[in-house]
Amino acid sequence: MSQTLRPLRLAPSILSADFAKLGEEVRAIEAAGADLVHFDVMDNHYVPNLTIGPLVCEAIRPHVSIPIDVHLMVEPVDAIIPLFAKAGANIITFHPEASKHVDRTLSMIRELGCKAGLVLNPATSIEWLDHVMDKLDIVLLMSVNPGFGGQKFIPSTLKKLQQVRARIDAHMAAGGQPIWLEVDGGVKADNIGDIVRAGADTCVAGSAVFGAPDAGGGYTGIMQTLRQNAAV
Ligand code: DX5
Ligand code: ZN
Repeated sequence: MSQTLRPLRLAPSILSADFAKLGEEVRAIEAAGADLVHFDVMDNHYVPNLTIGPLVCEAIRPHVSIPIDVHLMVEPVDAIIPLFAKAGANIITFHPEASKHVDRTLSMIRELGCKAGLVLNPATSIEWLDHVMDKLDIVLLMSVNPGFGGQKFIPSTLKKLQQVRARIDAHMAAGGQPIWLEVDGGVKADNIGDIVRAGADTCVAGSAVFGAPDAGGGYTGIMQTLRQNAAV
């Protein structure tokens, strides 16, 4: 019998949703069993693309009861964080290179009542975690270079996932708070098993979910497939 290694959270990224009907799209992913709404914020400065901000977060908030997982690809980060907290974000993650004072930014997110996390790009060292483990609720490992949906999963992320999983497990074994381990970019039905075995407990999937609506326009089929393939 197959069993799940650890509870799996699926976080569809609305970057690949139909922006002309975002309310309907987020309701559909919640109905299909999504655990989080992944909300990609790009500023055409930290990354070469421009997406959505706090107004859109506020607009979708009443359409779902699941947490909104805001991934900030912006620089600088601090000024925009209170606006997202006010707009109903539940989780706010940012890239450490984009903050002048990482510890302060993490503290600010938590003081605003949200879960806080760091996002590490494929070439960013996990040493960024060293001195802030006690301030993290989530670590997000990018498995593509940020900026666009629909890119190919970078395989070296699997080893990095194992390394961060070991750090988190050691931290929790020593009495530390729980820290989620999320992966973002190129997650598909055919690699999610390897990703979960390497240590992820939260998987973002954009094009895999929104590119595969079922006949009724819902996403139940693909969400079930992702969950089944993640079970080991
Ligand atoms: C990329 C974004 C991702 C993206 C994932 O910069 O952070 O969340 O939407 O899309 P897929 O799953 O299509 O790679
Ligand atoms: Zn993202």
